Amino acid sequence: MSDLSNPSAEASGTFKLGGEVEIHRLGYGAMRITGPGIWGPPDHPAEAVRTLQSLRELGVNFIDTADSYGPDVSEQLIREALHPYTDLLIATKAGLHRPGPDRWEPDGRPEHLRQRLQKSLQNLGVEQIALWQLHRIDPKVPRDEQFDAVRSLQNEGLIRFAGLSEVSVDDIQAASKYFKVATVQNRYNLSDRASEDVLEHCEKHGIGFIPWYPLAAGSLTQADSPLQKMAAARNVSAGQIALAWLLKRSPVMLPIPGTSKRTHLRENVAAAEISLSDREFAELEALR
Ligand SMILES: NC(=O)c1ccc[n+]([C@@H]2O[C@H](COP(=O)([O-])OP(=O)(O)OC[C@H]3O[C@@H](n4cnc5c(N)ncnc54)[C@H](OP(=O)(O)O)[C@@H]3O)[C@@H](O)[C@H]2O)c1
Repeated sequence: MSDLSNPSAEASGTFKLGGEVEIHRLGYGAMRITGPGIWGPPDHPAEAVRTLQSLRELGVNFIDTADSYGPDVSEQLIREALHPYTDLLIATKAGLHRPGPDRWEPDGRPEHLRQRLQKSLQNLGVEQIALWQLHRIDPKVPRDEQFDAVRSLQNEGLIRFAGLSEVSVDDIQAASKYFKVATVQNRYNLSDRASEDVLEHCEKHGIGFIPWYPLAAGSLTQADSPLQKMAAARNVSAGQIALAWLLKRSPVMLPIPGTSKRTHLRENVAAAEISLSDREFAELEALR
């Protein structure tokens, strides 16, 4: 294992969100601090709060959540643990309805987006969401109507920066006619690179790319991970190799590994201290 005594996300370098606000590239995903099926309160609420409270000392200043995590639970725990957020950038999302555990249904009707944004403002205890992302483009609603709704909310000052999630390059270009796309959040990790074209588009246009499932939902951390060999040779963990690879892959990459545990959080942040050589990077690329 790498030195976990004093890790800091500062070592991951910085990215200027919307070209204006600097964040450390290695962030934190707050989906895992809810109950099973991302539903209801977590089994260990005190540990969830302590995990959130250790983010500052670990130099993590970019946190991703969503109205639908819980629903509302993740945002409310963030408020309980971290409000006021002077030194932190809290990103949230809306656009998914939650009928029950493990169930997610797109709802991009402008009135639903507005209502859920209002709830996020209340949950987080803020007057403006620093980064608000459309969680899904709802196929039942014309995408332009959804983009127009985002523009209205931004024009009203309820959102500072706006982003998208699970989109194509064509979606990004269409949305850009309505608002400046600050971030794109698509599933992406060493073993799942279907969004490579979207990442390249983001790189070209200075859009932050937030890979969700950066640890392949934990499978890249397991004993049978294809990264174990390199991890053992370096005396680090496989999950740390997966995160170090992401950080080296692109300067617009903003990984947000999710965990409910302080030990895992420290380990993930320590990945920022790992600098892969070009040879190691090429070796990992070959696993594709
Ligand atoms: N835009 C979207 O549609 C979308 C979809 C999914 C997620 N997201 C966002 O992306 C974030 C990251 O995705 P994710 O949390 O689903 O997946 P992930 O970061 O790839 O993996 C999280 C899983 O790995 C485990 N884990 C984390 N660190 C570990 C470590 N060091 N050692 C061993 N296991 C570890 C966690 O369990 P423990 O709790 O036990 O550590 C959890 O089960 C989410 O938190 C959320 O903010 C966005």
